[in-house]
Amino acid sequence: MEVKYAVIPCAGHGTRFLPITKGVPKEMCPIVDRPTLDYIVEECLDAGITDIVLIVSEGKDDIKKYYDVDSKYEEELRKNGKDEYATLIHKIATKAKFHYVTQYELLGLGHAVLQAKEVVGKNNFVVCCGDDICTYEGRSPVTQLVESFIKNGGFTVVGGQTVEHKNIVKYGSMDVKSNVAPRTYELKGIIEKPKLDEAPSDLASLGKWVFNYKIFEELENTPRGAGGEIQLTDAIARLLGKEPVYFYDFVGKRYDCGDKLGYLTAIIDVALSRDEFKEGLLNHIKSIVK
Ligand code: UTP
Repeated sequence: MEVKYAVIPCAGHGTRFLPITKGVPKEMCPIVDRPTLDYIVEECLDAGITDIVLIVSEGKDDIKKYYDVDSKYEEELRKNGKDEYATLIHKIATKAKFHYVTQYELLGLGHAVLQAKEVVGKNNFVVCCGDDICTYEGRSPVTQLVESFIKNGGFTVVGGQTVEHKNIVKYGSMDVKSNVAPRTYELKGIIEKPKLDEAPSDLASLGKWVFNYKIFEELENTPRGAGGEIQLTDAIARLLGKEPVYFYDFVGKRYDCGDKLGYLTAIIDVALSRDEFKEGLLNHIKSIVK
């Protein structure tokens, strides 16, 4: 029941992040010295994923360029005695098998995931939004979700966390049937962006899932929903009538990097976690706070 594929939708408009997203995909915006997307790829590699399927839109060539081998540049770096950098960029391109699928019409997250059907086939797979990163100690949130998927018999696992009650209106809220294991719930349903007094719980879906291939069938039969888009949540709701669906409350700190404040917070936290920047950055913050 292995999980070797990860599908990362990166085709969205990134309207919340304009104007930069007019020229640069938000998934390529840097967090210190690596693109946002690369933190998500690393989370997947921690879980033993070997194949990364990137869903891109037309014109998002920067993403492919970042993960391609650039032999000429590597050679130039080595010639100039910069072997360390040559090795660094070579590793980026070879750490997984990267597949690219173009989503020609931006019809939503569910539609983006459906584009991966041919590459993924009948394999189990992880889905991670291309703009949601996590910091963590030990096992990555994706690793935790994959472990839960295997423990629960290979049925869908929706990843998320408990959010402050006032914030549940921004997310999918879990309608829980039972608590089947530590941090694991079997679901009755998901209410997308509920009104505050109508949210069944404060357990929120946060941009990470593990699926078996059956989700593709449901996505193919899911009509356009909210915003005229094919919603991944609607496809999961269809699946719920046919097989169990679980929610796993993962451990880790999650940042919505599609939102400007979420992105800035991620940069600060990631920089503070690196010894080379910690002292200088803390001194700077202290001087501002004073
Ligand atoms: P968002 O909900 O953040 O949508 O997508 P968006 O269009 O990128 O951003 P805003 O709301 O306009 O600011 C979540 C993830 O799903 C991808 C996005 O690239 C992002 O990583 N996505 C979304 C697609 O790949 N295709 C789509 O049609 C929609």
